[in-house]
Amino acid sequence: MIESNAVSSPAGAPAVEVRGLSHAFDAPGGGLAVLSAVDLAIAPGEFVSLVGPSGCGKTTLLRAVAGLLAPSTGGVEVLGGTPRQAQRAHAYGLVAQDPGLLPWRSVHDNVRLGLELTGRQADVPALLGRVGLGGFERYRPGELSGGMRQRAALARALVHGPRLLLMDEPFGALDELSREAMRVELLRLWEAERITVLFVTHAVREAVLLSDRVVVMSPRPGRIVADIPVPLARPRSEASEDTPEFLALVARVRASLHAAHGSARAASTPGDAL
Ligand SMILES: Nc1ncnc2c1ncn2[C@@H]1O[C@H](COP(=O)(O)OP(=O)(O)O)[C@@H](O)[C@H]1O
Ligand SMILES: [Mg+2]
Repeated sequence: MIESNAVSSPAGAPAVEVRGLSHAFDAPGGGLAVLSAVDLAIAPGEFVSLVGPSGCGKTTLLRAVAGLLAPSTGGVEVLGGTPRQAQRAHAYGLVAQDPGLLPWRSVHDNVRLGLELTGRQADVPALLGRVGLGGFERYRPGELSGGMRQRAALARALVHGPRLLLMDEPFGALDELSREAMRVELLRLWEAERITVLFVTHAVREAVLLSDRVVVMSPRPGRIVADIPVPLARPRSEASEDTPEFLALVARVRASLHAAHGSARAASTPGDAL
């Protein structure tokens, strides 16, 4: 186990709590409403996926949780403090679709970069081993496959021993085989360490396989239209995807997505920006 982080949340309190969050961006011709009255609580150790159509505000919601965006209205609490406090304390790790590694630094030195900024210590080679990059410490990002670069980004997100991982379509740019391998790795890691995870994806099967709960959002302005528990046994593997329970859950998530999409289309006006 890696050293745990300083920010502590009161016993029983959610790791993430979003209350009445709405957000609009300034846009030519008026504000662009992106999120509408979002309420979401994630318990410590829980794995929650957020699924919704492209442009519905998933990244915006994640950025609000990460303290990178101040919502127009509503509140967010992360690990018992404000998102900015969590950000400053490196209490969460963030993995986005683009690994964002420095091309001139080795994998080891990319992961170590965060430690250089804070002066903290961690066993970087051991961490790289945990994400399946043992032996590749000295490689540069350009010498790795897309999947390996995403593993390096995951190691970088874990280097401060966060209790919360925010993942924004982290496997979106990977080919199907790398994506499957990453899912299995992430499951293994989560089973071992039970970090709280908020995972954004638009891949329904992926959300069901990984999560304790799948939260479904409507098209923009994103609202939560369903919160579906996933009671499948753990540990899970690709074999879990062949069970009737799995397929029924996938169908349920899809039905919620389609229902929300249909009602949003019916309600939209001709001038509505896409
Ligand atoms: N910084 C920004 N300024 C203005 N509009 C933005 C900004 N970020 C996102 N948007 C708009 O907000 C909407 C939701 O974006 P986003 O949260 O990225 O959606 P998703 O991640 O679900 O695809 C989109 O219409 C997008 O154009
Ligand atoms: Mg996004």
